[in-house]
Amino acid sequence: METRVGDITSPHMQWWLDAKFGMFIHWGAYSELARGEWVMNRERWPIDEYEKVARAWNPERFDAREWVRMAQDAGMRYLVCTSKHHDGFCLFGSEHNDYNTVETIGRDLMAELADACHAADMPLGFYYSLKDWHHPDYEAGRRAPAPGDEAGHARFIEYTQGLVRELCSNYGKLAILWYDGGGLYDGAGWHADEMNALARELQPGIIINDRSRVPEDHDTPEQHIRASAPDRAWETCMTMNASWGRHAGDREWKSTGELIATLTRINSLGGNLLLNVGPMSDGLFPAESVLRLREIGRWMDLHGESIYATRRSPFQWGGFGFTTTKGNVAYLQITRAIGEELIVGMVKSPVVSATLLATGEALAFEQRGDRLFIRGLPSIAWGDPYSTVVKLEMEGEPEAYPGWW
Ligand code: GLC
Repeated sequence: METRVGDITSPHMQWWLDAKFGMFIHWGAYSELARGEWVMNRERWPIDEYEKVARAWNPERFDAREWVRMAQDAGMRYLVCTSKHHDGFCLFGSEHNDYNTVETIGRDLMAELADACHAADMPLGFYYSLKDWHHPDYEAGRRAPAPGDEAGHARFIEYTQGLVRELCSNYGKLAILWYDGGGLYDGAGWHADEMNALARELQPGIIINDRSRVPEDHDTPEQHIRASAPDRAWETCMTMNASWGRHAGDREWKSTGELIATLTRINSLGGNLLLNVGPMSDGLFPAESVLRLREIGRWMDLHGESIYATRRSPFQWGGFGFTTTKGNVAYLQITRAIGEELIVGMVKSPVVSATLLATGEALAFEQRGDRLFIRGLPSIAWGDPYSTVVKLEMEGEPEAYPGWW
């Protein structure tokens, strides 16, 4: 497939732009301690003590097929999982790092996940942290302004490229390479161009994020929404609570309604949402995540049409929520229902029909100047609890008037 790196119109990006919604998974030895994925660093664990935790970690209830099924049932169309986080412990077999789950429990957890994804036609991405709190040479290059330890840095880059090569060679088709943790060096320090060229050679069509300190294919705002320029792909990654890795004390769960409103807002601005789950150390998803995934899935079954394959919408936000668009159709995502009549401002295109997406029921509407009136909406009591979606067919591609401020 043709790849024009960083070009949103490039053929290799189109499936991802259509997918709109993916699952992020943060899982590793830190899940055992259940205090987030930074636990080793924040609690200053000596390497040998943390290593004992990692070597004892045995996720006996991990069933990759179940994970993939839950993601698909929630309407998610790709999956990105931590293959190695900052702690340096690999969830895959490696010839460059024997600190890995094949050595400790005889399981290549990423191979299991890859098999499950391939069997279910689920595009798979590997998260890979460039940080490595376990590797003796990780900081070797940074002793500036005194001369850095060049030999050590060279060893660390070779190690990094070795792992990236394994991830791109041993697991069949890899859809996404999702770097993180590159703060210590710049793109040149990481030899990022060379490393990413290697990944693209091994995996034609792969999508690479912007966190190896070079822009590559897409931007990755974290825990917030920020649309990139229209010619640039972007994806917000976000947690359902406040932690990426399992945190047993974290009770800051977002409601399903909030998560769906976030998804519609991101999609109206042309972005994707990569929504995180932090599985427990045994391999099961926390009950709070399972519940939200199910509820989102139920909503997506009825309203997925208003999410998938949409592109950046010309409509600004309204008091009711956000508008997604695709072809000649606009979808009003009414996350803040207020009654039977809805007034939408700044609508330029003539509207041909208005229907309730979930039922196909026709709705009365009237266009007066730049105002669109929609009548007969379900009352709050029996509308969708998360977002009632009105489908508007328009004459030609939806156009909006600019707002004034
Ligand atoms: C933050 C966290 C890191 C996590 C990442 C996901 O950078 O520090 O642990 O993996 O977000 O984007």
